[in-house]
Amino acid sequence: MSDKPTILVTGGAGYIGSHVVLALKNSGYEVIVLDNLSYGHREIVKDVLKVELIVGDTCDRPFLDQLFASRNIAAVMHFAAYIAVGESVQQPAKYYHNNVVGTLTLLEAMLSAQVKKFVFSSTCAIYGMPQEIPMTESHPHNPLSPYASSKDMVERILGDLDSAFGLKSVAFRYFNASGADPSGLLGEDHQPETHLIPLALLTALGKRSSLSIFGTDYPTKDGTAVRDYIHVNDLASAHVLGLEYLLAGGESEVFNLGNGNGFTVKEVIETARAVTQRDIPVQESDRRPGDAPILIGSSAKARQILNWNPQFADLSVIVAHAWQWHQRRHG
Ligand SMILES: NC(=O)c1ccc[n+]([C@@H]2O[C@H](COP(=O)([O-])OP(=O)(O)OC[C@H]3O[C@@H](n4cnc5c(N)ncnc54)[C@H](O)[C@@H]3O)[C@@H](O)[C@H]2O)c1
Repeated sequence: MSDKPTILVTGGAGYIGSHVVLALKNSGYEVIVLDNLSYGHREIVKDVLKVELIVGDTCDRPFLDQLFASRNIAAVMHFAAYIAVGESVQQPAKYYHNNVVGTLTLLEAMLSAQVKKFVFSSTCAIYGMPQEIPMTESHPHNPLSPYASSKDMVERILGDLDSAFGLKSVAFRYFNASGADPSGLLGEDHQPETHLIPLALLTALGKRSSLSIFGTDYPTKDGTAVRDYIHVNDLASAHVLGLEYLLAGGESEVFNLGNGNGFTVKEVIETARAVTQRDIPVQESDRRPGDAPILIGSSAKARQILNWNPQFADLSVIVAHAWQWHQRRHG
């Protein structure tokens, strides 16, 4: 048994949550994963992370009340959400229900159980089209999809719950989460997959016939969109620091988590070809509505306040770690 408190991790059977669970375990925390397994992977929690998995839904208030009443939970880290931007445009109610109503239900259950520390997965997508590069936390909010709006709404709810009830939260606005644990045992496995690096690697493995590039006429060095790729283990270390900041009595804060540098889609594909030593056929298509030409985040605030020090800024390392995972999972 650890002398550190018990942390409830919602969505801990998913991509980012599972890496954070590993980091929490390695830091000595007791972890309970709550996941409805709509997209998560039971075997990752059972066989790799080897922590308790409670299968349940953040929208289920009686279940949550029972969970908080039966366990001594010090803080909640909340990854559970639907994440596909395009699907959120087609099915907005599905996204608002799961991401906003589900989160509010969880927060109400927490408050009723006097659990008042909350770490939240937000997104740089709440900023919309960039007015400055790199984007800081004070950039205006202009979410361009129901997915991004759902995250923005939760951030507002968190502010109001702090004012009214003293709920302290850290909201992390991720740029492009990527890579995998260097062990090769954890990684990104979304169904359907929408993210560039796994799509490139699945194409390299022959699981997909080609990779689409959306937009080749952006005002960037090779015409393709620029994104800020942040290694999932660097996200995980920030989450442990954010949790410890709250446990030490820190005030509510929001932090960007990115590398502060950007790579074009074509640079990512070239890196994937170099790492895998395989062909990755591409198809060039039109821009997608709502995609910004360049998204790069400043994470100076997280570095300064949390002493966060990301370790894996090199894109080829990020892709190599993801490749190890993909070969093991799909090879
Ligand atoms: N992947 C990225 O690049 C990225 C970027 C910005 C923000 N985020 C946010 O990070 C979080 C994690 O993203 P991910 O990429 O790991 O996604 P993921 O789909 O791999 O993980 C989400 C997990 O939540 C679970 N879940 C969903 N709804 C639930 C509910 N109502 N009750 C219980 N469990 C539920 C799913 O089964 C899944 O295991 C999400 O909140 C996402 O919005 C991700």
